[in-house]
Amino acid sequence: MTVPQKTYLKLSKKVKQAIRRFAMFEPNDRLVVALSGGKDSIALVWILRQLGYHPEALFLNLGIGEHSAEAEQTALRFCREQGIVLHIIDAAAETGFTIDQISADYPDHICSACGSVKRKLYNRFALDHHFDVLLTGHNLDDEAIFLFSNNRRWDWAYIQKSYPVLAAKDGFVKRAKPLCLVREAQLEDFILKAELPYVASSCPYAKKGNLWRTHQIFSGIESTLPGFVEEYYKNFLANYSFFQDRPVSAMSLSPCRSCGDLSTQPVCKVCLLRQRLWQR
Ligand code: FES
Ligand code: ZN
Repeated sequence: MTVPQKTYLKLSKKVKQAIRRFAMFEPNDRLVVALSGGKDSIALVWILRQLGYHPEALFLNLGIGEHSAEAEQTALRFCREQGIVLHIIDAAAETGFTIDQISADYPDHICSACGSVKRKLYNRFALDHHFDVLLTGHNLDDEAIFLFSNNRRWDWAYIQKSYPVLAAKDGFVKRAKPLCLVREAQLEDFILKAELPYVASSCPYAKKGNLWRTHQIFSGIESTLPGFVEEYYKNFLANYSFFQDRPVSAMSLSPCRSCGDLSTQPVCKVCLLRQRLWQR
């Protein structure tokens, strides 16, 4: 597999720029990438290796029928071929449920419930295994959509979380998104030319969430106003100090009564999902 030099240089330049500009990590930091098997996280691990980093990968089997099975096989194949240490977590063994099992209870919010499971398990794994930074493969388009969804409410705390790096704090590992300056189309182009294995089909629940609907809206805007998405997100980054300085009420965190992980509620979201399933 030979990636055309021009394709590699264009991509690696943006990743290096993001790592440096947002002080994402240092050469000796222990890095773990949340590897979903999709094009973005596969490309992220590959490019980090080319840049001389040694990330490990973490795959979470969420229990989404054939999709999870295919994604796990892809992650295994990619990591085996590239010589990358891969950790696999069966989410149901940790939470007590699969995403398929709770999907009927949350027809419009399953992506949000799934997001809570992912955040919890990725974070706990990274802390337990003493990684310095947890990396995800969110690209510029993902980040623009996320920002747009968050500023619907003009909630400063949420807008501040739209930044591509979040420092470690009590109970939370440092998180970073090194593909935040890379457009989705560029990653699609890269993954095809690189001939790396990846799961092309999207999660069967993806079209049920608000993020998907926002994605559709953004596609429409972009086709009318080319470059809008990039401009929107980059201007947010350029003006981030304004948002960063907005006062937000401190969230009080306490151990979840059920699992002990820090939570803003007496029982964390994931434990609530399990309790509701059991009650049913
Ligand atoms: Fe979580 Fe699709 S990956 S609902
Ligand atoms: Zn809990």
